[in-house]
Amino acid sequence: MSRVVRNLLLAAAVANADDDIILSPLSDDPSLPERLLIFLPGAGVPNEHYKATAEAIQSQATELRLHVVVPAIPLQKCIIACISPSVCAPLKHIVDGAVSKSAFKGTKPKEDTFVAGHSMGSICANHMVVGYSYEYAGLMEFGGYVDKSGASSIANYSIPVLHVSGELDGGGARPGKIAFYYQQYKSYASTAGEEKALTEKPVQILPGLDHSDFCPGFFVTAIKDIHSEVSQEVALASIGKAASAFLHLNSKVSDAAKSAGLATMKELLTFTESMVNPYLDAFALEQGPVCTEAQRTVIGVTDEDFKRMNILTKVVDFGKFEHSRSGYAKKADGTLELTCTSAAEASSGFGPLDIHQAAKSVDCKMSDATRVAEQLGIKTNDEVECSKVNEWAVKQAYNSLPAKSKKRFDAKGRPVVFKSDTHVFENIGPLFVKGSISIKETTDGLEVSSLAINNTIAGKIFPGVHYCKLLSPAMALEWMMTDGIKPFPYSAMHTSDIVV
Ligand SMILES: *[C@@H]1O[C@H](CO)[C@@H](O)[C@H](O)[C@H]1NC(C)=O
Ligand SMILES: *[C@@H]1O[C@H](CO)[C@@H](O)[C@H](O)[C@H]1NC(C)=O
Repeated sequence: MSRVVRNLLLAAAVANADDDIILSPLSDDPSLPERLLIFLPGAGVPNEHYKATAEAIQSQATELRLHVVVPAIPLQKCIIACISPSVCAPLKHIVDGAVSKSAFKGTKPKEDTFVAGHSMGSICANHMVVGYSYEYAGLMEFGGYVDKSGASSIANYSIPVLHVSGELDGGGARPGKIAFYYQQYKSYASTAGEEKALTEKPVQILPGLDHSDFCPGFFVTAIKDIHSEVSQEVALASIGKAASAFLHLNSKVSDAAKSAGLATMKELLTFTESMVNPYLDAFALEQGPVCTEAQRTVIGVTDEDFKRMNILTKVVDFGKFEHSRSGYAKKADGTLELTCTSAAEASSGFGPLDIHQAAKSVDCKMSDATRVAEQLGIKTNDEVECSKVNEWAVKQAYNSLPAKSKKRFDAKGRPVVFKSDTHVFENIGPLFVKGSISIKETTDGLEVSSLAINNTIAGKIFPGVHYCKLLSPAMALEWMMTDGIKPFPYSAMHTSDIVV
């Protein structure tokens, strides 16, 4: 036994009052396949809070003789024992020790052993599966996720992997993040077919559940989270249904059980899609359409005059944005062609954590109102701020909300408050590129202020341009679906906010 393992076990003996939880199968029917589920707890959660969840899965996995083992985790933080896939031996040792106390005698993990984890436990579960060469029958990620890209992304996971998260998860496994993972499921479904994708890589959002419904009786993110809107009974039935469908679909069970599993996955998918589709549309708006709308807005023209214009939006990586240029060209037929450039800045949250998939801002380089007035000999309004486009983004997001989310936001959401644009010193371009949109959470709502440059044609450097750093419609969705409905102010930060 390595020293690391020994020290951990010692720490466990001192600091961890948990005992391994070993659940025997509910059935002893020898005709049913015997399977093991290893369930890794979230950070700071005593493992007893997973007992009801494990039992809910067992009770619906009627076609299996399912053992469940929820190991006691030293210091209740599995990540210490499994920092990465290559440094996961201590956790594997702990898991093996717990499994040896069960009556499970399977010897083909690739066929008979599933791994699950909740919250931080889902990170450890992924590490362990990858670190031990995917020698498991499948992985279940509850309120968590595998890697965004690479060999252990959903797209490339070499064994079946299920993602299940709550509609009201307010942390890293929120619907907006799950939407990103859903894209990999969907892309797989488009080539492999829906049935295969729902068997091997399902990504589901369960209605009304929060992050803590996976460990009933323990509120993981004590302060900064949204609360469940379903009873514990409903939540557990819902988790049990999704998990057992996945277990059946990936075990040697009857055709009837498999088609029931598939029907469950399809049924769950309807709700999942109602939640993720608005995000997918919003992610698409970040890639050009926001700047096209912005260009039309900031030049302050009438609908009639706008008919004499054409906008071309060029999408560039943020790294290339600084040296991109807006342009204009008068056409032979008398119309004006405006070329603007668009870049989405990498995601970040309202706070310091990357828990979103939404762009931090959508940045646009455009022509200004005075240039258009000069070129077309018309009157334009040069006082339209970038902020006007933020109002549009929020409207787009609001209109795309599923009915239930809209009702919730109307009832208890804090509004988005549009503040005047801010400007960089002397309208210096590189300062604009380095600067940021301001998005500030207050008791009154989310205060949004775009960063702008506005040079009229009378200016000396880069005359006739208007630049904006704009609110992403996806960020507005995050606010309406998640952060804007949290109780505020948060009285304290809980350490587990930092993980999933
Ligand atoms: C999956 O693997 C392929 C081949 O290595 C790679 O090109 C692709 O980007 C990976 N997918 C994701 C989502 O990372
Ligand atoms: C743009 O600059 C001009 C000239 O300084 C000013 O009159 C106008 O109000 C500005 N517009 C915006 C939207 O800031």
